[in-house]
Amino acid sequence: MFIPETQQAWRVVRKGEPSKVLRLDKDVAVPKKLDKGEVVVKVQAAALNPIAYKLMNMAPNFIAKRPYIPEHDVAGIIVDANGTGFKEGDQVFGWTPLVFPFKAGTGVLAQYARIKAEDLVPLPANVTPVQASGVTLVAMTAYQALFGLGGLRPKQSVFVNGGSTAVGAFAIQLAKAVGCKVTASASAKNEEYVRSLGADEFVDYTKAPLHQTLISYPLAEKFHVLLEAVGLMDTSLYVHSEAYIAPGGIFISVGPQPKGFDVVGLAKLAWKMYLQPRFLGGTKRSWKVLQVRPKHADQEQIATYLAEGKIKPLVDSVYNFEDVLKAYERLMTGRATGKVVIKMDSDVADS
Ligand SMILES: NC(=O)c1ccc[n+]([C@@H]2O[C@H](COP(=O)([O-])OP(=O)(O)OC[C@H]3O[C@@H](n4cnc5c(N)ncnc54)[C@H](OP(=O)(O)O)[C@@H]3O)[C@@H](O)[C@H]2O)c1
Repeated sequence: MFIPETQQAWRVVRKGEPSKVLRLDKDVAVPKKLDKGEVVVKVQAAALNPIAYKLMNMAPNFIAKRPYIPEHDVAGIIVDANGTGFKEGDQVFGWTPLVFPFKAGTGVLAQYARIKAEDLVPLPANVTPVQASGVTLVAMTAYQALFGLGGLRPKQSVFVNGGSTAVGAFAIQLAKAVGCKVTASASAKNEEYVRSLGADEFVDYTKAPLHQTLISYPLAEKFHVLLEAVGLMDTSLYVHSEAYIAPGGIFISVGPQPKGFDVVGLAKLAWKMYLQPRFLGGTKRSWKVLQVRPKHADQEQIATYLAEGKIKPLVDSVYNFEDVLKAYERLMTGRATGKVVIKMDSDVADS
């Protein structure tokens, strides 16, 4: 397949917020030197993730060698299969795991991306590139939290804090796909959205401190898994969790997200979550952080659920390639319901 020598790509040129450090370059070399097992994908759509703008702002230069092309989630067409199991012309979706843009300089906010074949799966026929582009990172996070770390089994009970975050929304769908009972929190304006994903019970997190609401909630049974899919620094939801997590159950966090360099907040958190012994009032439930990792089998399972219609892709909004800064503005409001997607190829459908 024809592959040009140069391409357009957004690159992170300094440390800081997207609006200050992202630049659209028009003469970036298309990746041609591939390692074994890597392919080149012509990007049709890419989706934004909070981790990418946080790393733009925080990752020191010795970790993230700037300029680099950011972002991870992608759908597109294989244009150089490089002797892998794919062939040129295959439609795929997947991701580049979190450190790859740093190591290789090549994320997916570009017309062509260098990606490991094992991080891609075929695009199901019932899903468009725009829809599929935003699935992998967040659905894998939810999947690995619930079934990997959480060991969730069919018919068990799960609480998703942040049912309208992209991670939370996939967690609801994945838990329902295996027949679990799901209670989810969101603000009142997102109740219908969260219920449409399959949540059996809804809790408005804005009405009262969530732990208080859950303590007084008439639960049929305590939760086997509580997935905190927002990134709260506040420890209250964990500290009171004996009241609503079953003995042997688990509290899983997507990773507390400090605002800036909050040493005191992190020290308090470490005390409550890891250090405080139970005989000194420590919480009698385990607390773990999920860090999403590459696992091809998980991607295949997610693709199967998509193909079977057991989970659906979630798109908040779609932006053109030149409007990436506006797309980051939307993501950084923290109010999106579903993925913020960049359409890279004007030929693909808008939704
Ligand atoms: N550890 C990992 O491997 C990993 C992987 C992926 C993501 N993450 C982290 O997971 C978190 C979620 O990411 P995402 O991409 O899914 O986020 P997102 O889709 O951008 O989240 C937006 C949603 O968050 C909701 N929200 C904001 N504050 C809330 C609160 N206090 N309680 C409940 N809902 C709240 C908003 O709903 P309202 O408008 O109703 O408030 C909005 O719908 C982020 O912190 C991200 O960095 C971690």
